[in-house]
Amino acid sequence: MAAGIDDISVYIPKLYVDTEDFAQARDVDIDKMRKGLGIYQMAIADNNQDPACLAANATYKIMKRNDIHPKDVGRLYISTESSFDESKAMNAYVVGMLEQVYGPGTFGHCGGVETKFACVSGSYALYDNLNWIRAGEADSQYALVVVSDIAKYDLGSSGEMTQGAGAVAMLLSDDPHLLTFDPKVTATSISDEYDFYRPFGKDTPIVHGQYSNLLYLLQVRKALDLYKKKVLSTKLITPGPDESILDYIDYLNMHLPYSAMGRKALAYLLRHEWRHLPRWKSLIEKIGMAEPVAQHPGTIETILANPEFIKDDSKFNRLLMETDEFIDIYEKKLSSSLIASKMIGNLYTASLYLGLRSSLEYEHRKGVDLAGKRVGFGSYGSGSSAMVFSGVITEEYADVVSKMNLDSEMKNRRRLTLDEYELLHRGQMPLTESILSGDGEFILTDVNKSNSERQYVFKS
Ligand code: CAA
Repeated sequence: MAAGIDDISVYIPKLYVDTEDFAQARDVDIDKMRKGLGIYQMAIADNNQDPACLAANATYKIMKRNDIHPKDVGRLYISTESSFDESKAMNAYVVGMLEQVYGPGTFGHCGGVETKFACVSGSYALYDNLNWIRAGEADSQYALVVVSDIAKYDLGSSGEMTQGAGAVAMLLSDDPHLLTFDPKVTATSISDEYDFYRPFGKDTPIVHGQYSNLLYLLQVRKALDLYKKKVLSTKLITPGPDESILDYIDYLNMHLPYSAMGRKALAYLLRHEWRHLPRWKSLIEKIGMAEPVAQHPGTIETILANPEFIKDDSKFNRLLMETDEFIDIYEKKLSSSLIASKMIGNLYTASLYLGLRSSLEYEHRKGVDLAGKRVGFGSYGSGSSAMVFSGVITEEYADVVSKMNLDSEMKNRRRLTLDEYELLHRGQMPLTESILSGDGEFILTDVNKSNSERQYVFKS
C-alpha cells in the first residue's frame, strides 16, 4: 500500500531577531552569520507561546485547509526536543487545544505519543506512521505528524546565533497528493554520543558545536551507506558505470540547524559518493589539491585531535564548493530548501520538513515540473542518530503546492529589539504580558505555580 504526505503546513512565530541587530549586540562579524552560517533572521516564540501552542497552530492550519474533521484523524504524533513535561505527552495538550475549536471529545479515539530523539525524532514518527498506513491499520483515516520546537541556547554562547522556533504539520494518507515515500529503503544509524543534550530541569542544551557538526556528517554518511545497499538490492536505483545513487536523487533535504550546514553536508556526501568514480580525477585536477585523508582509524576522536587535517579538509571543501560541478548540483538539488531556514533559523525537529516545504514551494515558483522527481532526506538528531530515506513527488502535487505561501506565513512579522529578545529569553515577563496578542491563534494563558498545569485558549 502507498503511503506519503498529502499536505504540509507551517506555523512560524511572528517575532524575529535580525542578524544585523544580533551581530552588533554580540560583537560577531555579520558575515560569519550571513555568509558563514547562512542565517539572516531567527524566529522567536512570544511570551504567550510554548512548543505545544506552535504545534496546535500548525495542526489547526492543516486541518482547516484540508477540511478534516477530528474523527478522520487516527493518529496524532508530536515530535519535539523542547518538551516541558516528563510524563504528559505533548499531543494530549494539542488535543486539548484543538477540542476547544472542534468540541470536547472530538479526538476521543485519536492515538498518538510524543517522540524524542533530538532533531531526528520527527523522522522516526513519520516512518512509524507511514508503516501504520502501509499495514492497513489506518482504515482510511489520516495520520498527523507534527514537529515542533523552540531552539534556545544560552545567551552569549556560540549556539545562540543558531536559534529559531516553529512547527510543521504533515498530513499522511494512503493516497498521498504530494509525495509518496519509497518503501523498504529507509536506513538508520545510531551511536551513544554527547554532542548536544539537555539534562532534566535545564532550559537550554549543553552543546559541543564542532563535535556535533562532525557527528552529523559521519552519522548521515553511515545511514546513506545503508540506504545505498537497500536501493541497490531492491533495484529502486541502478546507477551506470560512472554514476552515483545521488545522480538519481533530484532534490536533497538535509537537517538544517543553520542553512549553511545543508551545503556542507551536500559537499561531504558528494565527496563520499564520487571519490571512487572516474569523474573524481578531473574534479581533483580542478580543485588543485589531493583530498586529505583522515588518520587511521578515521574516528571522530582522531579527526578532532588533528587540527592540521581539519584545516586541510575545510580548505578542500571550500575549493570543491567553488567548482562548477558542485555549484550546479547545489543550485539544482538543494538551494531552494535553504531559503526558509535563512529567514526562520533552527527549528530542531521541524528544520528538515521546513526545508521540504521551502524546496517544493520555491522550485514550483521557478516553474519546474516536479512530478515524478525523487526527494532524498538526510535527518540527524544529536545523541546521536541519522535517517536517510526518499520519496517521489506525485503527479497532482501542483494542486497542493500552489496553495502554499511561506512569504504570506511570514508577513507582518515584528522585528524585536535586542532588549525585548533578551527579556523573552530570560523568561522575565509575567505570563499576563506578551509582545503580540496572538489573535486567531492558540496561546498559553497560565502555568499554575503550584501544580504546573497549563491553560490555553484559542484567541479568535
Ligand atoms: N565571513 C564569512 N564566513 C565566516 C566568517 C566571516 N567573517 N567568520 C566565520 N565564517 C565561517 C567559518 O569559516 C565557518 O564556515 P565552515 O563551517 O564552512 O568552516 C562558519 O562561518 C562558522 O564559523 P565557526 O565554525 O567558527 O563558528 P562557531 O564555532 O562559532 O560556531 C556552530 C558554529 C558550531 C554551528 C555553533 O553556532 C553551535 O554550536 N551551534 C549549535 C550546535 C549546532 O547547530 N550544531 C549543528 C550540528 S548538530 C545538530 O544539527 C542538531 C541541532 O539541530 C542542534
